[in-house]
Amino acid sequence: MRSTSLFVCYMLALLAVQWTAADSNIPTRIIKGFKASPSRGSAQFEPLLTDITGVFAFGFLHISSAKLDLAIIHQPSTQQVWRANPFNLANWGNSTTFSFNGNIVLTGESIQDSTIWSSKSAGGDYLALSNNSNLQIYASPADSSIWQSFDYPFDTLVQGQKFSSASTASLVTADKRYTLRIGIAYLALFMEFHGSQEMNYWKHTAIKANALKDIYAQVDPSGFLGIYYVSDGIYVDRIPFDSFERGLLGFHRLTLESDGNLYAYYWNNDTWVSVYTAQTEPCGLPGKCGAYGICIPGSPTQCTCLVNGTDGCLQSDSGDFCGIQNTGFSVIRQSGVTVEYTDIMETIAVGSLDECEKTCEQSCVCWGALYSNAAKSCYIMDYPIQTVEKSGASYNGYFKLRSNGQGTVAHKEKHRHKPGHRAVIAVVVIFTLTFVGMAAYGGYWWWDKKRNSLPIIQLGSAPKQQPSLEPNKDPDTK
Ligand SMILES: *[C@@H]1O[C@H](CO)[C@@H](O)[C@H](O)[C@H]1NC(C)=O
Ligand SMILES: *[C@@H]1O[C@H](CO)[C@@H](O)[C@H](O)[C@H]1NC(C)=O
Ligand SMILES: *[C@@H]1O[C@H](CO)[C@@H](O)[C@H](O)[C@H]1NC(C)=O
Ligand SMILES: *[C@@H]1O[C@H](CO)[C@@H](O)[C@H](O)[C@H]1NC(C)=O
Repeated sequence: MRSTSLFVCYMLALLAVQWTAADSNIPTRIIKGFKASPSRGSAQFEPLLTDITGVFAFGFLHISSAKLDLAIIHQPSTQQVWRANPFNLANWGNSTTFSFNGNIVLTGESIQDSTIWSSKSAGGDYLALSNNSNLQIYASPADSSIWQSFDYPFDTLVQGQKFSSASTASLVTADKRYTLRIGIAYLALFMEFHGSQEMNYWKHTAIKANALKDIYAQVDPSGFLGIYYVSDGIYVDRIPFDSFERGLLGFHRLTLESDGNLYAYYWNNDTWVSVYTAQTEPCGLPGKCGAYGICIPGSPTQCTCLVNGTDGCLQSDSGDFCGIQNTGFSVIRQSGVTVEYTDIMETIAVGSLDECEKTCEQSCVCWGALYSNAAKSCYIMDYPIQTVEKSGASYNGYFKLRSNGQGTVAHKEKHRHKPGHRAVIAVVVIFTLTFVGMAAYGGYWWWDKKRNSLPIIQLGSAPKQQPSLEPNKDPDTK
């Protein structure tokens, strides 16, 4: 009886929430001095502000069961298009307070004494949401915009939002595992390893772009991602979607999803219609089968393992093989494996598989290498081993395993740094120093410029893995 009435109360509460969300009483402007805390309701989203068309709303978004983030959602679909994404999430409760005093501030004494997140702005008088989801702080009397959420994207770019190589903006997944960045003349996807190493697994180069000029990318309502010069707005290049040249179909967005792939959609007033996928081969995603996983094109869910672990494939470590305590490793060799993105990997021209393996063996930042017999090329993996894909036998893989790694390892061999040809060592040392320098600088640059500087919510968590199945006996499927 009691539970029935509780259920009824719950349903009524849900209805009330639904009704509140659709209610025109949600303000279209927040004036300086405003404060709010999430209610004790079970709402998935509690709006504080809406745009005048009522399509977008800004407010408290429930994350997992008891946490919240400031977010902007597309109300008809409840799709989030922006999140503040602080280092620590605030609690859904009255200890958490949103306030606007010219600066947007989120505090939560139960989490940390200092501010959880802030727009780091000053001098604002009111807050409003534009009809394309841009949250802006305005200063009256000129109504000039002094801060906008469009400059601090989360995982999504909506149409009209500029994504510029002259800014620090990047798209990031909630677990901070994957990022989309824009640089001079390119857009690229990266997998991040604790903020120090990274893997570039997709890249679009604007070949006609001047290699010295900053560019910005912007989703166009007519169905493409346009690339333009920052200085004069002149068009350079585009990535067309399936909706290109079909008229104005609906509101478009581009989202970096948790699988590490980049997708575009438009809203047809009913659902989000998928119109673009950056990596069309599922096995081209580095997290598809987890660390030391093998993905089979055509059956990407049938993952097998390069090295078995206790649950799925061996979890890969972070770091490298440099330093006295890290030098011990064993090796696994596998023919008929490659990756989709060899063309953007660190590539060394070699004469033989043996030369390729030696190059990796002697470099303490190298975790593995792929050798192409046809191209006589050696592709270096200077990051922990992730998913590779089954291929023709003309590719050979060489992968290092930490000596302390668990799992049943076939063909175990011990390797230590040992004297070899001086020239090879010199080359490897130069390569290593260059890489470490570039990685350190790149890592520093990126993290330094992030607004909420501290990275990683789930430190050290590897992507979800499929249980390993029978290995495929025919290595020549590609
Ligand atoms: C916050 O909530 C707790 C219980 O959930 C209640 O005891 C307390 O009075 C509330 N504080 C305020 C300021 O509303
Ligand atoms: C959104 O606002 C812009 C100008 O602020 C206007 O040109 C456009 O028509 C509006 N779109 C909708 C759907 O209201
Ligand atoms: C969606 O609704 C808007 C406003 O009612 C209308 O202008 C537009 O044509 C609709 N789009 C589609 C794809 O039905
Ligand atoms: C991994 O485990 C699977 C199933 O348990 C087994 O068939 C396979 O041979 C193992 N692979 C390696 C490399 O040990």
